[in-house]
Amino acid sequence: LVPSTALAQEDGMLIIAHRGASGERPEHTLAAYELAIDQGADYIEPDLVATKDGVLVARHENEISGTTDVAERAEFADRRTTKVIDGQEVSGWFTEDFTLAELRTLRARERLPEIRPQNTAYDGLYQVPTLSEIIQLARAKESETGRAIGLYPEIKHPTYFAGIGHDLAAMLVEQLHAAGYEGESAPVYIQSFEVEPLRRLSAMTGIRLVQLIAAEGGPADDPSISYADMLTPEGMEKVARYAVGIGVAVPLLLDEQGEPTGVVARARAAGLTVDAWTLRPENPFLPQMLQMGEVPEATGCDDLLFAMLQRA
Ligand code: G3P
Ligand code: CA
Repeated sequence: LVPSTALAQEDGMLIIAHRGASGERPEHTLAAYELAIDQGADYIEPDLVATKDGVLVARHENEISGTTDVAERAEFADRRTTKVIDGQEVSGWFTEDFTLAELRTLRARERLPEIRPQNTAYDGLYQVPTLSEIIQLARAKESETGRAIGLYPEIKHPTYFAGIGHDLAAMLVEQLHAAGYEGESAPVYIQSFEVEPLRRLSAMTGIRLVQLIAAEGGPADDPSISYADMLTPEGMEKVARYAVGIGVAVPLLLDEQGEPTGVVARARAAGLTVDAWTLRPENPFLPQMLQMGEVPEATGCDDLLFAMLQRA
């Protein structure tokens, strides 16, 4: 869902379409990104992983059995495997084991069909998009609409991918620079849950960087740091040395009583912007928001998020 654009933009907020208009089209398809832009999103958010031949493509994870038809494709049955990624054992089919040509024979499908049954009508229609296609779409929509269309790419598991020969950070920056995106004024933010790739990126590019912070755990590339550490004033000062902002899980912004946790205030004190992910009907904290009584039950998810961010 893309929030009430006029309301949010009046308040100085940016609207970032998480995985595209993923409530209305299968996520990370050109159709999902284009619909989000048409709905007024300022930025679209591709999660990026690599193919075997080193091409950046958009998938939420490099394991693709839930987001494509790969499991039903007999010719790829022997590609099923088990790997350890960021300390977790994962079984399935992985983008890094497919060339781009092979990957393009697959078709995207809705990842959460029980929650978003409406999107299954589009299963089988779309290919897995490349970053190159996403950039082309953004540029074409800029020409069509006369407004900047921002990119908010996330590099997924960058340390894991570096270990198998794919430097996602370098690949991304090279492509962005080649497409004319450079410096703080470019409508781009690069995000990662890991720390070292962002630090490295800060020396490679002037493009703005965002440190992602989850509700639990810590960055996969540095077990000595927890996300809770990053949310302290000292932690935020460290983040501010390489990033312009933090991207936090929504429940970190308000406590169980719906009161601000102080994260936004501390981020502002450290000079960091705050991006929040993600409010959708399936989020367990949505009923809490409704109980707070600040918005009527009939109000859309978009207005709930807006109210919540104002409160935080
Ligand atoms: O951009 C923040 C958010 O997208 C990170 O989580 O799992 O949706 O990629 P995820
Ligand atoms: Ca993401």
